Amino acid sequence: MTSVVTLKTELASRIDAANDLDALEKIRVEALGKKGAITALMQNLGAMQPEERKTFGAEINALKDSVTRLLEARFTSLKDAAVTARLAAERQDMTLPVAKSGTGKIHPISQTVDEMIAIFADMGFTVAEGPDIEDDFHNFTALNFPLGHPARAMHDTFYLPDAPEGEDKKRLLRTHTSPVQVRTMLTQKPPIRIIIPGRTYRSDYDMTHTPMFHQLEGLVIDKTTHMGHLKGCLIDFCKTFFGVDQLPTRFRPSFFPFTEPSAEMDIGCDRSNGALKIGEGKDWLEILGCGMVHPNVLRNCGIDPEEYQGFAFGMGIERVAMLKYGIPDLRTFFEGDTRWLDHYGFDPLARPNIATGL
Ligand code: PHE
Repeated sequence: MTSVVTLKTELASRIDAANDLDALEKIRVEALGKKGAITALMQNLGAMQPEERKTFGAEINALKDSVTRLLEARFTSLKDAAVTARLAAERQDMTLPVAKSGTGKIHPISQTVDEMIAIFADMGFTVAEGPDIEDDFHNFTALNFPLGHPARAMHDTFYLPDAPEGEDKKRLLRTHTSPVQVRTMLTQKPPIRIIIPGRTYRSDYDMTHTPMFHQLEGLVIDKTTHMGHLKGCLIDFCKTFFGVDQLPTRFRPSFFPFTEPSAEMDIGCDRSNGALKIGEGKDWLEILGCGMVHPNVLRNCGIDPEEYQGFAFGMGIERVAMLKYGIPDLRTFFEGDTRWLDHYGFDPLARPNIATGL
């Protein structure tokens, strides 16, 4: 029979030498498992005289305890070492500059939307969104286009098949982002100050029209907002967006069913040298539609026009992106040509913000 002392020294040195958790587990099984050396010693106890059993039993228990302690200690240190090794192996140097891969560009639409959000966020606007598939009520009726009103024909609407019962439920692809004005006013209490970037759809296709395009809508509702605020807000926006301090602007009377009065905003430009330059010059460029929210629209959305008023505006995102970045043909935005994107796209690591510039 192996002596307790020999077994203890032997196990202690094997435990000490075990250099991974698998090796340690093997030693544990060989010592304390069902067929282990210490278990085998215990089995001898049964055949012993009571006196002998008492001393020998105590020795084996002490052996068992000390081997268990050694195993535990070694387990903890091997485990710590494994974690430390893994951390070292998976370490990444976050101070390294990003490799310029040259692939991947931000689309001018995304860039322009991000720039607009940065500017309006700085004025206290938040972003709201709504569905591309709308119904007649939100896209037209609530916006003061009565049923059968000729203004509905201003938009070449894509109607969807299988419209549910009732004219107002008729489904369509939204022709402007204005239905999100309605959705917001129906669910939020004034004061409201939102911008709505999104896709819009009209059945039209040529140099300056695509069946899908983007708009950015704005809506401000509170008790005292007036036309002066509308002008100040939009003039400030245009100066920041186009990066021009001296920017002539003018507001021409216009018509939209959902605003009264309505206006179109023009910005100054110069076309004298064959190239378009935004800023002081002899020419004008139409840039957006705007106006004071029509009392009927407020009423349709459960807002009392005696208490609240405000302004709204809407502009084509492609149009201002083309003007700002000198992109000549609208259709190229949606052709998915990677050479075009390489040329007109933006660095994904330089996102626009007011602090560091657009
Ligand atoms: N929805 C209008 C259009 O698509 C733009 C607009 C929005 C005009 C808000 C006035 C106020 O032409």
